[in-house]
Amino acid sequence: MVVLENVVKTYRRRRGDVKALSDINLQIEKGEFVVICGPSGSGKTTLLMTIAAMLRPTSGSVCVEQKDLYTMSIRDRAKFRAENIGFVFQMFHLVPYLNIIENVALAGGVASQSGGAVKANELLKRLGLAQRAFHRPSELSAGEKQRTAIARALFNRPKIILADEPTGNLDPDNAASVLGYLSEFHHSGGTVILATHGTEAEQFADRIIHLHNGSIDNSG
Ligand SMILES: Nc1ncnc2c1ncn2[C@@H]1O[C@H](COP(=O)(O)OP(=O)(O)OP(=O)(O)O)[C@@H](O)[C@H]1O
Ligand SMILES: [Mg+2]
Repeated sequence: MVVLENVVKTYRRRRGDVKALSDINLQIEKGEFVVICGPSGSGKTTLLMTIAAMLRPTSGSVCVEQKDLYTMSIRDRAKFRAENIGFVFQMFHLVPYLNIIENVALAGGVASQSGGAVKANELLKRLGLAQRAFHRPSELSAGEKQRTAIARALFNRPKIILADEPTGNLDPDNAASVLGYLSEFHHSGGTVILATHGTEAEQFADRIIHLHNGSIDNSG
């Protein structure tokens, strides 16, 4: 369901190029829970962004669900992303001036506005956030913010959830609950790709991929 072939990403800077990914070849099956593990700067975020249809590699191809992401038009790619991919960011990235229910329903876009609030409410209930629906992100704890971000990622019933260090800012209890929701999505048939430099997600993983200096470490 996810196939990367010879993916290279070089960030071009005036003060010199940074090679963030060098020749990544990777295949992830439908329904797998994959943990991408690596130190800071190893290229985890860059890799997730290229899979998420948000960052074009310098060379190589990224296919998700048989679609070659970066040969599609920007518009088709955005549509494909909205319909297939949920993203959970380390820093939550909630919209500060919208309340929680609006943040969750935002993923549905304008088209689904009427049914959106009902659906968002159901998700918030499931994630234990029903009492927070009309609060702003600034009024929430870190754990509640990240559960909101998970509700937003689940909103469009994606086939795949990409999570970038989703527990990095959470205490152990909240981290466990966030991993529990991702695991639940996995058990319902979803594909999860989670990047982290920690070890707490490994117990949920079907497979652990080690990233070093932009390369997959095959030494075991
Ligand atoms: N926009 C950018 N411009 C230039 N260099 C960048 C940019 N984004 C990332 N990099 C560089 O690319 C390399 C990989 O960065 P990336 O953010 O993918 O690493 P990471 O594994 O996610 O690190 P962390 O664990 O700290 O989040 C790093 O050397 C980083 O400095
Ligand atoms: Mg990162």
